[in-house]
Amino acid sequence: MNDLREILKFYGEMGAEFLHLPVSDPRADLAELNREILQCRRCRLHESKTHYVPGEGNPRPGILFVGEGPGETEDQFGRPFIGRAGQLLDKIIQKMGLERQDVFIGNVVKCRPPNNREPLKDEVDACLPFLRRQIAVLRPRVIVCLGKVALNNLLGTAYSMGRIRGQQLEFAGIPLVPTYHPAFILHKRDQEEISKAKWEVWEDMQKVLALAGRERH
Ligand code: URA
Repeated sequence: MNDLREILKFYGEMGAEFLHLPVSDPRADLAELNREILQCRRCRLHESKTHYVPGEGNPRPGILFVGEGPGETEDQFGRPFIGRAGQLLDKIIQKMGLERQDVFIGNVVKCRPPNNREPLKDEVDACLPFLRRQIAVLRPRVIVCLGKVALNNLLGTAYSMGRIRGQQLEFAGIPLVPTYHPAFILHKRDQEEISKAKWEVWEDMQKVLALAGRERH
């Protein structure tokens, strides 16, 4: 703040009557970030991937969904959440009264870990600065972490999703809602468990809509 006062004083003394402050353009900032991601060689995952998957969606979204990392289909096409888990996420987004283009969908790591294994610590450490910068550019009203890998890597925690979901957390002053990863629901066989998990995700999404300023009943 003192720095800002000094700068304004300096310009005042120089006789300036107007100060043109640079206005950030999230579209341009995201494009620049994508260029960097598409050249990244910070970890071994770039060697085995087919395509980088930087994330996509609204450059000023109410809601940012964060997953773990690209799967096989995402790797093939360079787009996040377009496989089976993505189709379930699409249904959730639709049920919220939204479309994919209204939200932003990203991941903790931008390259597919081989055989869909969890990303390793050094891979996450290398890639997380991209997600942090995406969040700074997007300035979403609410962040939804899909699954414990996204949640714990973003927050540096070790929560169990079953225990933490239902609570509201925070990242960089932005409300954060943890919920189940769509693949967690798809892997279940028991119909009762599936219905319960879907209902819990829906409860979480009601909270997300309220935080984003769009309630739906
Ligand atoms: N699972 C994820 O965590 N991210 C994707 O993009 C696809 C599946």
